[in-house]
Amino acid sequence: MTFERKIKELLNKRELAKLGGGQKRIDAQHQKGKLTARERIELLLDDGSFEEFDMFVTHRCTEFGLEDKHFYSDGVVTGYGTIDGRVVYVFAQDFTVFGGSLSLAYAEKICKVMDKALKMGAPVIGLNDSGGARIQEGVNSLAGYAEIFQRNIMASGVIPQISGIFGPCAGGAVYSPALTDFSVMTKENSYMFVTGPKVVKTVTGEIVTEQELGGALTHGTKSGVTHFIADDEREGILLIRKLISYLPQNNLEEPPMEPCEDPIDRLEDSLNTIIPENPNKPYNVKDIIYSIVDYSEFLEVQRNYAPNIVTGFALFNGISVGIVANQPNYLAGVLDINASRKAARFVRFCDAFNIPLVTLVDVPGFLPGTTQEYGGIIIHGAKLLFAYGEATVPKLTVILRKAYGGAYCVMSSKHLRGDLNYAWPMAEIAVMGPKGAIEVLWNKEIRSIENEEERAEFIARHEADYAEKFATPYNAAKYGYIDDVIEPRNTRFRIIRGLQSLATKKDVNPPKKHSNIPL
Ligand code: HXC
Repeated sequence: MTFERKIKELLNKRELAKLGGGQKRIDAQHQKGKLTARERIELLLDDGSFEEFDMFVTHRCTEFGLEDKHFYSDGVVTGYGTIDGRVVYVFAQDFTVFGGSLSLAYAEKICKVMDKALKMGAPVIGLNDSGGARIQEGVNSLAGYAEIFQRNIMASGVIPQISGIFGPCAGGAVYSPALTDFSVMTKENSYMFVTGPKVVKTVTGEIVTEQELGGALTHGTKSGVTHFIADDEREGILLIRKLISYLPQNNLEEPPMEPCEDPIDRLEDSLNTIIPENPNKPYNVKDIIYSIVDYSEFLEVQRNYAPNIVTGFALFNGISVGIVANQPNYLAGVLDINASRKAARFVRFCDAFNIPLVTLVDVPGFLPGTTQEYGGIIIHGAKLLFAYGEATVPKLTVILRKAYGGAYCVMSSKHLRGDLNYAWPMAEIAVMGPKGAIEVLWNKEIRSIENEEERAEFIARHEADYAEKFATPYNAAKYGYIDDVIEPRNTRFRIIRGLQSLATKKDVNPPKKHSNIPL
């Protein structure tokens, strides 16, 4: 063959590979409102930056007629490219080839990019759209999955791992995305479950649709399995690009610093009056977040799951931070099982990747009741406590209003190695709120007063007395548990100054194989 023909042959093979399972199947993919694997990669990466690996890989299965059926790339497109100029490794499952199902060769391709990402210290992004284990490959497919899982585990806490779920993701296949740091699902076409509706019906008799069982809304609101719900794939992919912009390349690097034109000393007068005079009235803590971060930009993580705690990324004068905030607007911002799990995982992610934590506190305590106790709130609440106590990144806390009981301790208090702990003047820091405290302290006296009016007057007097003494930040400030009581409108400036002063922080935990977080 002449060299010219060899080059032509290469170009032909490339064209063939780019067609995946063929034009018909690409059209079918589009008809479902889905993009192809290559289109997804193109959207994800900077223009022209994609370098592909293993385009000519095919499966090696010789069973069930597969010996005559080969497609270049074998159902997964892999390689690297850049997002805003920073290298990321990617794999995108191609549903047009055997329904995106995973063969051993396919798994080896994914393992190759994961190994490279780990060696190079760059994030890995997986775009999932697959019918699961390639049935014809039997145990080889299962082996391939487990090899991927092992790499997910080794990469955890070393490089950021992000999953997009843009189609089916069922059976054991769900565990790779579950092992990654963040996942994005789309509203219409994506679903994740360990067993599908048919098996559910056979085993439990329950009748449920794919979406009800494992759609984006289910995992974004009920199970907390996914972190972001996107309207469509384009939005989901742009979300991944945005998320990457807050993260370092690996655990040994700092997050990127953005030049910032939003003034650091911008005073937000509205914050001086945002807390209602009545301590039982809610407000939206996100209004506070938006008004203190750069350009009011906040990338919220798990927005619809456990909304009584808010988690997400933002910049302060270009410094990337993780924000955790109790949300008085939902269940009064109480800590419950889901909120504790959600925030604990977020805190641990930030700590693993050198992202400072800014915690905004307004928490009446832990949610009481049998549902919570039977569900193990003790263990789950301990997760958040553990996560904060173990974290060595800069930790800056602002108590906005309530910080009561165990929840005070948990929410990045001074005693859990909080670096800078501020409070607003309206902060109430005590073992419990006035109402509960008076009922415990004056129980006998209250019961002995028969006249209702007199009883109410007694309670009101003692509540006011208690609030005066304990529901203030100054008791905590007296002991140095609060470093300063700050004017609300100046919060942005104080946080930025604080973060700047903490930039050189060094703290370590005792050497150990690993900790034993209450799981
Ligand atoms: C081989 C598969 C396949 C699979 C789909 N295909 N899934 N081939 N192994 N797992 C093939 C189909 O035969 C079909 O080929 C093509 O892909 C497209 O599939 P359709 O069924 O036509 O598409 P659609 O109607 O959109 O349905 C998609 C689907 C369905 C819901 C994903 O294909 C399905 O239920 N697949 C099986 C899912 C499954 O049970 N997987 C195993 C899960 S257990 P042709 O040539 O006919 O077009 C698992 C264990 C992992 O994954 C364990 C890890 C530890």
